[in-house]
Amino acid sequence: MIDVSALTLDQKASLLSGRDFSSTKPIEDAGVPSIVLTDGPHGVRKQAGPADHLGINNSEPATCFPPAVAVGSSWDPEIAAQVGAAAGREARALGVSVLLGPGINIKRSPLCGRNFEYYSEDPYLSGMLGAAHVRAQQTEGVAASVKHFAANNQETERMRVSADVDERTLREIYLPAFERVVTDAAPATVMCSYNKINGMYASENRWLLTDLLRDEWRYTGVVVSDWGAVSDRVAALSAGLDLEMPGTGGATDREIIDAVRSGALDESVVDEAVRRLLSLIDGYPTRGGAFDADAHHTLARTLAAECAVLLKNDHDTLPLSASVDVAVIGEFATEPRYQGSGSSRVNPTRLDTALDEIRANAANVRHVPHFDVGQAVAAAEAADVAVVFAGLNDAEESEGYDRTTIDLPADQVDVIRAVAAAARRTVVVLSNGGVVSLEGWHDDVDAILEGFLLGQAGAGAIADLLYGVLNPSGHLAETIPLRLQDTPAFHNFPGEQQHVRYGEGVMVGYRHYTTAQAPVRYPFGHGLSYTSFETRALGVEVTGDDTATVTVTVANTGDRAGKHVVQVYVATDAGPVRRPARELRAFTKVALEPGEQRTVSLTLDRRAFAYWDIQHHRWVVAPGEYRIQVGENAASIVTEESVKITGDVIIPELSMDSTVKEWFGHPIAGPALMQGMTAGMTPEQQAQAEQQQDQLRMVESMRMRQFVGFLGSAMPMAALDQLIEATRAAR
Ligand code: BGC
Repeated sequence: MIDVSALTLDQKASLLSGRDFSSTKPIEDAGVPSIVLTDGPHGVRKQAGPADHLGINNSEPATCFPPAVAVGSSWDPEIAAQVGAAAGREARALGVSVLLGPGINIKRSPLCGRNFEYYSEDPYLSGMLGAAHVRAQQTEGVAASVKHFAANNQETERMRVSADVDERTLREIYLPAFERVVTDAAPATVMCSYNKINGMYASENRWLLTDLLRDEWRYTGVVVSDWGAVSDRVAALSAGLDLEMPGTGGATDREIIDAVRSGALDESVVDEAVRRLLSLIDGYPTRGGAFDADAHHTLARTLAAECAVLLKNDHDTLPLSASVDVAVIGEFATEPRYQGSGSSRVNPTRLDTALDEIRANAANVRHVPHFDVGQAVAAAEAADVAVVFAGLNDAEESEGYDRTTIDLPADQVDVIRAVAAAARRTVVVLSNGGVVSLEGWHDDVDAILEGFLLGQAGAGAIADLLYGVLNPSGHLAETIPLRLQDTPAFHNFPGEQQHVRYGEGVMVGYRHYTTAQAPVRYPFGHGLSYTSFETRALGVEVTGDDTATVTVTVANTGDRAGKHVVQVYVATDAGPVRRPARELRAFTKVALEPGEQRTVSLTLDRRAFAYWDIQHHRWVVAPGEYRIQVGENAASIVTEESVKITGDVIIPELSMDSTVKEWFGHPIAGPALMQGMTAGMTPEQQAQAEQQQDQLRMVESMRMRQFVGFLGSAMPMAALDQLIEATRAAR
């Protein structure tokens, strides 16, 4: 690697911003090559001609693998890994060193226009999938850029909105997926988001980019800006942002040079950033070659089949037999919606359609290409089964803006209802990036297969699932609500006057619905199969003060091979903070032949029990009882066991401003106070004093300072001072 000291200040500054839209500047004299960074993450969008980040100009053909919304529903890190590895192989072949992704922001509201690029409403699931993607992609020699760091959960005003999030919510919901990816998978780059967090741009946020990311999480890679996210280059560099993208024609390099020359910026800050850049360039050089487009198309199909979610299947409507007459209705059957709009848009190598794939399975297929009630009803009446391909059009959701409704377009709902009334059996296949409401037609139809966006080979996967060539195994990574008004962020999305208040706190997604016991259409974790599973013999072994091992047996009790997702939730009331009713803390996907059973073992680490304590600014495991629950989904628990967790010994600090309750409840001061107060009393007086303890409740919110004033000499100040010291020493 080139030695930083061999470079001039001008050369060093030049490395810290792009040459153009998607590459870094070379320094030919010093032998530093340029490298290419491009989107990502479910395929490569390498633009041969003029580049843009809105996906407007077409790019070189590459395989469009299932986007994150689908991968999230696979509940399988292996699927995320295969997407990462295959996209990595293509990036390498196309000469790309950094493939920008994965996006692991939390789906705070179903309205976020970019939810199709994110995995889940749950940070644990998002983190596990993101880490698998990054590891696999980087193993192929292509750097990842985990994004958008952090609290970028909407598109409205994304360039300047302040996400106003409290400390605990940030730590428990919006940061853990990043923390896991950074600490478990060491992404070569982290992309900071456009937005502000509590009033400060992420790109200038030293706490975020240095104190947390580097000092606490021990991150050693490069921080790159989202494209255009830097507004003050010197402030951003000082905060920990290494590489500004895209290039600024050298204007901001000059700002860096001037700041060093004027003494406003220490040159060692520049050197550190350059060292990281050089190590990235060194570690991920430009390669080239070819990739097997056919093999990757087949892989994209295999992966897509793991992601679609069978939401409903009354009367065993699915799978279809090849001999039934099918009416295929809707334009998505011939013009598939398979990826989202914006910077992640891939120019696919091929594109399958559901109509062709269904025709490959069944002899009698009629097709109504449009959402036309008259034609649809006629076709449905003439067939055994009607399959309606519904969903959202490209323009209804995209990077850059949010949705304002979760409804399907009205013309589609009209067709679904009319078809359901006319057909013997109705199946709805959905293609959408963000969740859509199923209300108004859900009860009319027999089966619903939610495909989300499945990539270029998704149509083949849909046909395989409809005809039972494969068995659905996807599960919802986000709740499908009954109404938009029920969603936890409803009152605070997308904010106003450049602020969005995360008022629901940690109660995001299923955490809200399960805690409030609010009904939903389909809960987080829901997904049906053509076979049936049984979960039994749950065992929980506490393995330390704050860890446990869960073992559980799952059996395939049906007559088809299938995959079951074991979902382990932890529920507790322990500790001083309000906990969600339950939180996902471990999961695994198990493949089982008919009649087969397997015992799986999952680990609950310290974090599975912890909450973020805003008084101590750290993770705390409260001592107490924890219920370990195995759920079909977040709303229905099939088996559970309670365990006692020793947790942390927390000795709270005391002062004269602590309340009477805090003093008397204190593990050291409380007993000492009682002893002091009852010393010298007769046994009868002591018994009476203990009985009167109840009366303390009246004054428990009083600060000790006031209480002492009331009691006068009964509670000497010197004794209290001694106790304050004793508690401090014990902490
Ligand atoms: C997006 C990023 C993307 C970048 C480069 C930005 O607008 O937010 O996700 O990686 O453009 O295309």
